Amino acid sequence: MIEFLSKTFPIDYWKDLEKNSSNPIYSTGVELIEYTDLKELIKDENEVKKIISETYDGKIFIVKKAFSKKFIETIKDNFFEFIESQPSSFHKMTESCPDFHRVIDEKVSGNYSIKALKHSAYFFHWNGDKYKLFDEINERWRILKFLGGKKFDEYEKNTPKDGVVDRIQVLKYPPGGSLGTHYDPRHNQKFFISIYASKREEGGDYESGGFFTMSEENKKFDVEPYIESGDLGFGYATVRHGVDKIDNKKNCDWSTKSGRWFIGLYSNDSDEKINRITATNLD
Ligand SMILES: [Fe+2]
Repeated sequence: MIEFLSKTFPIDYWKDLEKNSSNPIYSTGVELIEYTDLKELIKDENEVKKIISETYDGKIFIVKKAFSKKFIETIKDNFFEFIESQPSSFHKMTESCPDFHRVIDEKVSGNYSIKALKHSAYFFHWNGDKYKLFDEINERWRILKFLGGKKFDEYEKNTPKDGVVDRIQVLKYPPGGSLGTHYDPRHNQKFFISIYASKREEGGDYESGGFFTMSEENKKFDVEPYIESGDLGFGYATVRHGVDKIDNKKNCDWSTKSGRWFIGLYSNDSDEKINRITATNLD
């Protein structure tokens, strides 16, 4: 696969697209694609251009069965091991930043650019990758870096002093959790990238709320019916999106395993960078 991912034509294709029309704000639907099919499609230049232009048109892609159930369940188990191994804390993304986790409740949510109620664990490759997240995830992330017009292994070895770093965020929106409407920076990566680690269904991890995109002004599009655990979603970063309150609970239950699990992949500006760009809140 590396042979195809080493091609760089998407860079020029993106330049043309972005020069000729403005960034998408609203989503224009969902396209489902099997992970095994995606790996074949990216060998075809025309298919790659089609995916790129559709994302720039506002389409959300859900890559089905991108990760095994076992991989996803192990991540959740490891999350609990990790949060019990150390207290909730916060660290800026400066050189040698450790892996850490933080309960982002009403009290600390105001410190972030987007209002969120969630429990997040953050992992960086330079800390030894105790839970073996990076190899498995990078294999998929590389495809999205390629589609996004970057080198397929761009940023993989970076540390904060380089200005941009890859970060894996494993998080749980507890019952009562949510994320405000926002859009993400597009300068380091073109897409928001989500690994979905639970499913909304009756009697399941959660029964209401979840991921939405804006399909028009003031009109939310519910993406959850298309999502299963193990899927990988991506869309152009400026398409407005958020997470509606999980299970409509007034107060968050931070200890339960139920709720909405999610793994976010982002190449962030580090805190070593002057004028770092973060997400833009719209609520
Ligand atoms: Fe986002």
